[in-house]
Amino acid sequence: MPQHDVVILGAGPGGYVAAIRAAQLGLSVGCVEKDKALGGTCLRIGCIPSKALLESSDIYHEAKDGFARHGVLFESVRADLAAMLKRKDEVVKANTSGVDYLFKKNKVARYLGHGRLAGPGKVVVEGAEKLEIEAKHVVIATGSVSAPLKGVELDGDVIGTSTEALTWPAVPKHLVVIGAGAIGLEMGSVWIRLGAKVTVLEYADRILPGMDAEISAEALKILKKQGFAFRLGARVTGAKRKGAGAIVTIDGAEAIECDRVLLSVGRIPYTDNLGLETVGLALDQRGRVPVDDNFATSAKGVYAIGDVIRGPMLAHKAEDEGMACAEFLATGHGHVNYDAIPNVVYTAPEIASVGKTEEELKAQGIPFKKGSFPFMANGRARALGHTDGKVKILAHAETDRILGAHIIGPRAGDLIAELVAAMEFGASSEDVARTCHAHPTLAEAVKEAALAVDGRSIHM
Ligand code: NAI
Repeated sequence: MPQHDVVILGAGPGGYVAAIRAAQLGLSVGCVEKDKALGGTCLRIGCIPSKALLESSDIYHEAKDGFARHGVLFESVRADLAAMLKRKDEVVKANTSGVDYLFKKNKVARYLGHGRLAGPGKVVVEGAEKLEIEAKHVVIATGSVSAPLKGVELDGDVIGTSTEALTWPAVPKHLVVIGAGAIGLEMGSVWIRLGAKVTVLEYADRILPGMDAEISAEALKILKKQGFAFRLGARVTGAKRKGAGAIVTIDGAEAIECDRVLLSVGRIPYTDNLGLETVGLALDQRGRVPVDDNFATSAKGVYAIGDVIRGPMLAHKAEDEGMACAEFLATGHGHVNYDAIPNVVYTAPEIASVGKTEEELKAQGIPFKKGSFPFMANGRARALGHTDGKVKILAHAETDRILGAHIIGPRAGDLIAELVAAMEFGASSEDVARTCHAHPTLAEAVKEAALAVDGRSIHM
């Protein structure tokens, strides 16, 4: 029977990073994954394929509507969807086989099959054959799946989740998206750029409900200009097949007929057949595996990380937890700073945030100062031809410590990294304002927003 210091269930960003880090620290590591390809939802059917399609559709859209502004003219431009989907699959393959390589390099033993606990210190792998492994520690990193919605009859084709929306072989004429969160807006962007009519139905009275309200209002304005139709305050009660298409019903409003439906109302932890009862573990009310600050469950030697535990369902949060959990197992210390976890939505322009929103600071009675700077006044943004959006920094009114930062604009997902690092170091807005930023760059908008916290931005 194989034996390991640690066996990890799941090879998504949480699990595979935990496996590599634990191996780096000298532990003997096994990783059980039921899919042939390593990398989990993120690499196979989430972050990576969606970014590949977002990139291809953005290039097409720019070529069609944006290049002329730069004096680049085409006789005609057309999208080859089959080629885009093929490229997306190649991008996925390069990433997932990269994890294979990293496992070999770090001597992580890979087990193909469904892994489950089978009592203390024991894992069973149900694959081509049944195998039992002995493990001093087990880390559950099984991730999440799309949340269902009552009345929505998923058929894996016309009415689908993000998994199907990444593979549709033809551009929908009319796509109805249920839920204006990250998945709905990103996949909606892909298909609207390729020519679909897109209607987004959102239960809340705003899009991206968790984000800073000022930024999400700006996003709404920009996305509407791109042609998105939004129905806010719309509670979807059902969706079912009708002929070759579908019909979506809304509480108190007229139903909508369309040819594709994307259900994107959140994700739920994936804990099917994990054998938790064999070690005396139960899930919490929201179906998550309860853990303490060191990712330990109440069962000795069993840990959990990523989407299957509390906190935001984000790949990079899972990765950091994987790293911290492996370090805790090997050294007794491991830490994640949950106050400095960025969140990015890859629409055009991108939307990125870290730390507290203005609403949260107000609700918590924390005194703050705010500095904003629009990309319209940034030289590089003008040269790029992408001037929509702004940078907004929130700092403590007395200490000037940065408490939150919110960006909507070109490359916001990359720009937020500076402010995440600043928060990690406990920086003040003055620290960022006094840091030399190369000219001409988009990052100067970050410096200007930091200057604006003290009412002294130069270019406004
Ligand atoms: P989400 O939780 O971000 O958004 C779901 C939206 O659906 C909410 O705005 C909610 O109010 C709405 N909703 C719920 N029930 C509804 C109903 N009956 N009718 C109409 N609207 C309804 O979920 P999403 O977009 O599915 O994403 C799932 C997870 O994946 C999230 O945790 C997200 O952060 C993560 N993710 C992150 C990405 C990124 O970082 N770029 C990309 C994609 C997903």
